[in-house]
Amino acid sequence: MNIFIILGTRPEIIKMSPLIRECEKRNLDYFVLHTGQHYSFEMDKAFFDDLELPKPAYNLEIGSGSHAEQTGKIMVGIEKVILDEKPDVVLVQGDTNTVLAGSLAASKVNIKVGHVEAGLRSYDRSMPEEINRVVADHVSNILFAPTELSKQNLLKEGIEESKIFVTGNTIVDAVFQNLEISNNKGNVLNDLKLKSKEYFLLTFHRAENVDNREQMSKLLKGISMIQKEYSMPVVFPVHPRTEKRIQEFGFSLEDITSIRPVSFLEFLQLEANARLVFTDSGGVQEETCILGTPCITLRDNTERPETLEVGSNILAGVESDRIMQSAVKMTNGKKSWNNPFGDGKAAEKIIDTLIIE
Ligand code: UD1
Ligand code: UDP
Repeated sequence: MNIFIILGTRPEIIKMSPLIRECEKRNLDYFVLHTGQHYSFEMDKAFFDDLELPKPAYNLEIGSGSHAEQTGKIMVGIEKVILDEKPDVVLVQGDTNTVLAGSLAASKVNIKVGHVEAGLRSYDRSMPEEINRVVADHVSNILFAPTELSKQNLLKEGIEESKIFVTGNTIVDAVFQNLEISNNKGNVLNDLKLKSKEYFLLTFHRAENVDNREQMSKLLKGISMIQKEYSMPVVFPVHPRTEKRIQEFGFSLEDITSIRPVSFLEFLQLEANARLVFTDSGGVQEETCILGTPCITLRDNTERPETLEVGSNILAGVESDRIMQSAVKMTNGKKSWNNPFGDGKAAEKIIDTLIIE
């Protein structure tokens, strides 16, 4: 069986890494295509180095662009590779334009599609990611749902139960596989002069938060209030999309320690030792839940409600009052919960399922 793994952005490289390792371990016939949706060193190559992943067999180098531009270019590139390589199955992960394009291109030439992290729903169609997830799920032949809840979301939309496999999320595998290496390799806390549990970590990059000046201004005001109230550093590895908008809108980040995006190993350390994490990232909501750090999500909805249920996460939106109330609640709230995203063997289960199906 020839497995075709498609990835294109930072979270896909991280969440596909356990699957690539599993294919290597079992000596399977597989190859990787990078769409090049993310391409800056610290959003791309840094992760291949850090996670010791082999260089992808193909890189489409499509770069940035509008939704249609990115999706169209990726589809054309992937179709050519599929026709040349004739894989038995294509694997996509998550909800990016790379996933939309990869799943559509493969399904249209009748190649089996496996969607890793299927069934997540924010039920907010104004998010590009929600459109991408829904389409990818509905054209996929095998759906790897991380939790029972994501399976239920798929069943509600009429997807046949026989196509759905609950495997856990490969992010748990990635965290377990890399946490120890992270603790032994370098010390980002020392480098940034931070003390464990005496700083906050911030990340945000969602289009709805950064492409709108007013929205971003409110969010930054809330974070500034937090910094003043607690007198603790706020460390902010800035996503390139956010960086671009900060420049365009002319915001100055006086109360915030902004840094370039860091490697996965460094980010794991920053998450594990933070007092609280403020984010609009999907992966960060999951990782904080796995690592036992309380998370405040700067959005009004989440496609990861499991984190709200176990109490690791709270929805705060971007209004400063709510951000402040959420910080107080999470600081005083519980500090341990069960991780709902699986046992760290998702990649093993996914590959087992592919071989049987
Ligand atoms: C994309 C995904 C989003 C995911 C995120 C992970 C879509 C629609 N969005 O958002 O779901 O959460 O990746 O980080 O697929 N840029 C660079 N260097 C890079 C990549 C991007 O400078 O390596 C800048 C460019 O100015 C670009 C902008 O960031 O225009 C946005 O990049 P894009 O890939 O379109 O979307 P993301 O916001 O990264
Ligand atoms: N991450 C990282 N360095 C950073 C910020 C994030 O390695 O400076 C990792 C983080 O550990 C997580 C992933 O990037 O695994 C999340 O990616 P992102 O927030 O870009 O996308 P999303 O998960 O929202 O799609």
